Amino acid sequence: MEVAVNSNEFLPGSQGEASLTEDNREQVARPTIRVKEVPERDRRRLLMHFLELNDSDRLLRFGTVLPDELITRYVQHLDFSRDTVLGVYDAKLRLVGVGHLAFAPREARPVIASATIKERIAEFGVSVSESARGAGIGTKLFERGAMHCRNADVDTLYMHCLASNQTMMHIAKKAGMAIHRDHGEADAYLKLEPASPSSVLKEAVQEQVASLDYTLKANTRAALKLLGSIPGFKS
Ligand SMILES: CC(C)(COP(=O)(O)OP(=O)(O)OC[C@H]1O[C@@H](n2cnc3c(N)ncnc32)[C@H](O)[C@@H]1OP(=O)(O)O)[C@@H](O)C(=O)NCCC(=O)NCCS
Repeated sequence: MEVAVNSNEFLPGSQGEASLTEDNREQVARPTIRVKEVPERDRRRLLMHFLELNDSDRLLRFGTVLPDELITRYVQHLDFSRDTVLGVYDAKLRLVGVGHLAFAPREARPVIASATIKERIAEFGVSVSESARGAGIGTKLFERGAMHCRNADVDTLYMHCLASNQTMMHIAKKAGMAIHRDHGEADAYLKLEPASPSSVLKEAVQEQVASLDYTLKANTRAALKLLGSIPGFKS
């Protein structure tokens, strides 16, 4: 497994291509993206991620230009026992992508209540740091979110966004979501297959690998910090 120590690892085209052979160039053109569940103890990292979003990104993500104070409140009130927060960490363990799966009773969304007989539906919101966009992180977070829903006995994944959000519309269409546009806003939803042994195993393996990757990054950072504290050592 590769461990990225470069904080620009998610910049499109940032891979060290000089050392690649023609045969494997295609396969490794993009760094591998590991999606991991974000634990409650990472609220501060979540806050840092959201505060870095500029006004237009905040508008796209939250439907309104949330000021810092309300973003802080949003993060403080994230309910980790009910919802699932998915993240992509860079080499410095900063969150460069965050997907929030909010679970709610189906009656909470009358628009799609008739689309399912399951008790709960899930609403997905996603954001990727500006410097990490275009590398597939948003798509990976979405795919993992859909898999998590499936495995949690939820068959309807819902997204509400501005109809002008071309990138998100592209990701939604690519995933086969049904999109309903109304007054400049768009409701998109996806019917999911029931869980299967392979979907459960796949999610568990992805989580394990992402956790291992996270641990390796944390250890690398700790080792570099330690070495940096040795007089005369230059990193
Ligand atoms: C939407 C967002 C999450 C996408 O993240 P990302 O990591 O850049 O997304 P990806 O790299 O996985 O995919 C981007 C796709 O959109 C396409 N795309 C980019 N800009 C586009 C545009 N203007 N029109 C159409 N497609 C566009 C890319 O070509 C890529 O497609 P591909 O995978 O088929 O090549 C990110 O732009 C973001 O955080 N925006 C602000 C917040 C937001 O809009 N959130 C969504 C509301 S819930």
